[in-house]
Amino acid sequence: MANMKHIIWILVSSLFLATTTVSADETARLIRSANRYFAPLTDAMPGSENDTPERIALGKKLFFDKRLSINDEQSCASCHRLEEGFAGVDNLPVSPGAKGQLGTRNSPTVLNSGWQDSQFWDGRAEDLVEQAKEPILNPIEMGMPDEQAVEEKLRGIAEYGDAFATAFPGADPAITYQNIAEAIAAFERTLITPSRFDDFMNGDAGALSEVEQRGLKAFIRLDCNSCHDGILVGGETYEPLGKENPYENQSDQGMYEVTKDENDRMFFKVAPLRNVALTAPYFHDGKISTLDEAVRKMGTLQLDEELTDQQVSDITSFLKALTDKNREQYIQ
Ligand code: HEC
Ligand code: HEC
Repeated sequence: MANMKHIIWILVSSLFLATTTVSADETARLIRSANRYFAPLTDAMPGSENDTPERIALGKKLFFDKRLSINDEQSCASCHRLEEGFAGVDNLPVSPGAKGQLGTRNSPTVLNSGWQDSQFWDGRAEDLVEQAKEPILNPIEMGMPDEQAVEEKLRGIAEYGDAFATAFPGADPAITYQNIAEAIAAFERTLITPSRFDDFMNGDAGALSEVEQRGLKAFIRLDCNSCHDGILVGGETYEPLGKENPYENQSDQGMYEVTKDENDRMFFKVAPLRNVALTAPYFHDGKISTLDEAVRKMGTLQLDEELTDQQVSDITSFLKALTDKNREQYIQ
């Protein structure tokens, strides 16, 4: 009898061992495949080699300074909110400018943005410096008349004299439109937000729950990563929105608006998915209000797949794990 118990015990415990090792193996395989398609964040963004503390501090001050707008009503941070609970967006479908006029596109996040191949939904700015020059002069955003007017306005603010001189030693004049954009970009390059997905890719098998791992597997199995890949899970390439089935709102034709090339119709930047759980509403027009809906729509529009409720909920759980660890508490 004692013997029988012993045998059963051995059988049961080896079965238990077998199942746990299989799942540890499976997780290890998933970590390897995640590293094939995606990559963990590093602690320095491309182009940050010359970003001194003085330049970053100046850029931060400029990013939050409403005096960069025509009527002192609006800063970069008005639309790209960085205060407690926000993830570099205003969570509006489209944003009002300094004078209250609405833009036509949804504000993307500035978090981790410098890792993208280029900036804007249509990629028309090659980097953060070129990007920063646009909103200040955009008549329905910050509305300043021209570069010179911005330089003159800042030269008239005493505290900026020293701040620019120390941020750009040797430059004369130091307050130039180029340097304004350079400083803002230096600050933006500090907006790096590691998530649990990074820990997972770096080998911490427990960093993603079972459900999140299932979501990651579904994301890969469905081929979402054929577009959303790399360090930002997107942000590197341009693809038609409505690759398989046309998107209902055709009023904004994406890259075509810039290039006028027929082949670019409805091409938009593949949205980077880091922090996506905090950046509702979704798509370039801000017309999709929930993450579930965005995921489900991606299935039909881009892959001609009707996702099951289970797939949508698993993938959404995985996408939530791409949130800045310091901001996860704000996911609703
Ligand atoms: C009125 C709201 C508003 C203001 C003010 C504003 N932005 Fe934006 N920002 C947007 C919108 C909308 C877009 C997308 C526009 C497009 O793609 O055509 C955008 C795009 C960006 C992007 C590109 C992100 C990406 O994923 O492509 C960056 C970076 C950015 N803004 C930084 C800034 C900076 C720096 C300032 C201040 C100099 C600023 N923004 C001022 C609304 C605003
Ligand atoms: C053929 C390329 C392609 C495929 C495949 C694809 N996407 Fe996308 N995805 C895009 C593009 C392009 C956008 C930006 C669309 C826009 O608003 O113009 C986007 C946007 C999104 C958004 C909204 C992000 C935001 O900030 O607005 C989510 C979420 C998303 N995709 C998830 C997925 C998931 C999940 C899958 C797989 C089921 C998937 N995508 C498959 C190209 C693709």
